[in-house]
Amino acid sequence: MDIVVLGSANADLVVEVDRRPAAGETVLGSDTSVLPGGKGANTAVAAGRLGAGVAFLGAVGADAHGDLLLDSLRSAGVDVSLVRRRDRPTGIAYITVTPDGENSIVVSPGANAALDVSDVDIDGARVLVASLEVPVPVVEHAVAEAVARGVRVVLNLSPVARLSAETLAGLDPLVVNEHEAAWLLGGAPDPPRLLELGVRSAVVTLGARGAVVVEDGRTREIAAPEVTPVDTTGAGDAFTGALAVGLARGADLVSAAELGVRVAAESVTRPGAQG
Ligand code: RIB
Repeated sequence: MDIVVLGSANADLVVEVDRRPAAGETVLGSDTSVLPGGKGANTAVAAGRLGAGVAFLGAVGADAHGDLLLDSLRSAGVDVSLVRRRDRPTGIAYITVTPDGENSIVVSPGANAALDVSDVDIDGARVLVASLEVPVPVVEHAVAEAVARGVRVVLNLSPVARLSAETLAGLDPLVVNEHEAAWLLGGAPDPPRLLELGVRSAVVTLGARGAVVVEDGRTREIAAPEVTPVDTTGAGDAFTGALAVGLARGADLVSAAELGVRVAAESVTRPGAQG
């Protein structure tokens, strides 16, 4: 196994709307699609579809949504032996998608919140990929384990959260979008400044504009291919999964991010996070 992905698995309840409602307002949308999602599961599926040996470490409920998630992971070739079934409903993401392909999301964590430090198992991994819809202590424990074993750590800090200095020091790279970078820096999302957090390297995803890689004091911009977006949900997850595959195959960070940008661009041309 090359990669362990630690993160969330959600059933995505997706409704297309012409525009988002303002506070106190009601708008009508499309029929609801129930699709497999969750930042962690999306990342694992992307890596699995690219042919990597990948295991997903996360938690779902003993319900139909949990089955949906497991089926999707398996069909992408992902090892699900580390998936825990908990006595909580599978996480649900309530997603609206507007005609420009942009989304907004509310997550009800459910079983994702019941993942425990004792569930962490990264035996045999060359790369650990984590994201933050699971408890922060679990992520920090996994990062510490990985660092102790010389396993490379990719962390997609989404949704953004404060992490310990020890955890930040293990990240190679930290992956964030512009909003998350601005939050972390308390101001403009200036990519080189992310290294001031103590991370070994950083990648800022820029949506249709591609990504920026910062390492060893150098900054490299990667342009994205032009595509017509249908649904941008999960583009960052696809990016991170592909980047991890590149790193696990021995690519340098810039080449791995180039693969990530191409895969993310492809991902937004189809509906759903995993589709
Ligand atoms: O990044 C997109 C994902 O965020 C969705 O699939 C949703 O489940 C939330 O986790």
